[in-house]
Amino acid sequence: MKIFNDIFKIIEYRKSLNGSIGFVPTMGALHNGHLSLIQNSVKNNDFTIVSIFVNPTQFLPGEDLDKYPKRETADLKICEFSGVDAVFMPKKSDIYSDEEPTIIAPAQKAYILEGFERPTHFDGVLTIVLKLLNIISPTNAYFGKKDSQQLYLIKNMAQSFFLKTNIIPCEIVREEDGLALSSRNIYLDLEERKKALSISKSLKLASKAMMKGEFDCTSLKQIMSETMQSIDVEYIEIVNRNFDKIDKIVLKNSIILIAAKVGATRLIDNLWI
Ligand code: PAJ
Repeated sequence: MKIFNDIFKIIEYRKSLNGSIGFVPTMGALHNGHLSLIQNSVKNNDFTIVSIFVNPTQFLPGEDLDKYPKRETADLKICEFSGVDAVFMPKKSDIYSDEEPTIIAPAQKAYILEGFERPTHFDGVLTIVLKLLNIISPTNAYFGKKDSQQLYLIKNMAQSFFLKTNIIPCEIVREEDGLALSSRNIYLDLEERKKALSISKSLKLASKAMMKGEFDCTSLKQIMSETMQSIDVEYIEIVNRNFDKIDKIVLKNSIILIAAKVGATRLIDNLWI
């Protein structure tokens, strides 16, 4: 497995490859959620490139940029064992310059929900993803449904900017007890981890209610908020696949979204219906 820090060297390497290229952008501290994206890419492409870069522009002042978990040695092992061909770990100073054009994410869909709680977060996400896609020029790029708004906005950018890469959505990977995997889960102590389970539990209860015929979004949100009383819920929202808020569930075109703080740790989860 090759490891590149230098942008121009990875561009040269990319040019030398013949065949389809799968790309998995990450911020490292890899877990089974990332692994499923990597496996999807390895299975469906001739070559797989993973990037590890804790992107400063998507963190707001006061967020966890400085303490974001770093596990470089373990990450590289995971990539190597999974059949990754190359890992790209650029330096911040090579990716960003003092003055450069800015990408502003769409006002209506990137400043609601996650974007309302974390204004400018998606400007940073789209900027880094565009830079990485331009460096790697992959055939397919893999993103998790766990970050559903991010996935929607990246798809939208790929369409609007006529990018040649296919954006491939991947299913959410959970712990056996239901907790959605996240690099931030390691911040949770035992007590908080128990409380965090109420997030996935509330999604399961919503799912059960829907099976019994409850499609009214206000009622579903009520059921979920009752289940999450021990944590600090930032939002429970139900949208269609175009991220418009809806009042009634439409099968195959709805997503239930949750963001909550458990202690100091902010977690998100969702259910695609
Ligand atoms: P990061 O949080 O490291 O996640 C990298 C990719 O893994 C994202 O596409 C995310 O949706 C996916 N992922 C995380 N947890 C998952 C889970 N439990 N199941 C399935 N997929 C999961 O998302 C980012 O990094 C950054 O914003 C990035 C796109 C790399 C830009 O900096």
